[in-house]
Amino acid sequence: MVNSEKNFIITTSLGARADQYELAARISNETGIPYVARGKKTISELKDSWKPDGMVVVEPLRIICIVGESEFFFHPSMAVIRIKEIKSGKNDQMINAMGLCDGQRLLDCTLGLATDAIVASYILGPKGFVLGIESSPLVASIVQIGLQKSYKKTSHDVLNAMSRIKVFKGDHRITLEELPDNSFDVVYFDPMFRIPMSKSSGINALRPLADHRPITNRVLDSALRVASKRVVVKENRWGNELEKLGFKYIEGGKNSSVRYGIMFKDG
Ligand SMILES: C[S@@+](CC[C@H](N)C(=O)[O-])C[C@H]1O[C@@H](n2cnc3c(N)ncnc32)[C@H](O)[C@@H]1O
Repeated sequence: MVNSEKNFIITTSLGARADQYELAARISNETGIPYVARGKKTISELKDSWKPDGMVVVEPLRIICIVGESEFFFHPSMAVIRIKEIKSGKNDQMINAMGLCDGQRLLDCTLGLATDAIVASYILGPKGFVLGIESSPLVASIVQIGLQKSYKKTSHDVLNAMSRIKVFKGDHRITLEELPDNSFDVVYFDPMFRIPMSKSSGINALRPLADHRPITNRVLDSALRVASKRVVVKENRWGNELEKLGFKYIEGGKNSSVRYGIMFKDG
């Protein structure tokens, strides 16, 4: 597990409701981040007294993690846009690369903000299954809670797709070794890019909390054992990790900023 939240504190907004205190206690338990009563203090006053590297604030409608200038929080908006496009008949590059269809099982080894997992869960439908592994305990907690909430302007089919995703807090390097052969149709990785794409504000806010270790060939071997159909790794068009990992089949990159390395189970 990554331990980027070593000197963090967790608190609530001013005048919090009972459910906010419960969530703050839950996140504190799950992550080991100490809970600090907000009292009547401003955020700046809390920062002055505790000098934390980061602060988690449980607000009435969302949980934010403030690190320096960046604010990390969960919202399904990017997935909502992609699902709208799929509904209007557009192709989704990731879904094509995964070759996903109704009822399949996906192991998302790098859950992050769960945008990819939500889109996949929507395609897999109620008979399908998405398990998302996330090694940052704080990111996993915030996203797990966020996936079970309701959001204005988000349709029921998207909310249902979100609620079906199971979150597992852990390191995929370990979890993959423990999973049975062929237990998922597709195993997917979207690691933090070696060369960051600064445009993505969600990923930029995730950056200080995230696990930045690269995918290794040992991890890929485990993933190929666990997948019954294919293993897919995402990378931006400027990287060369896919080539280094031995991917021969790569989709995208010419007209898009991302590309997907695909290894098929049988060949
Ligand atoms: C680029 S983000 C994934 C974004 C995600 N695909 C989405 O759509 O929001 C990569 C995430 O993988 C997590 N991660 C990296 N290495 C991991 C590992 N070994 N086990 C579990 N999670 C890992 C990082 O902490 C980070 O949250």
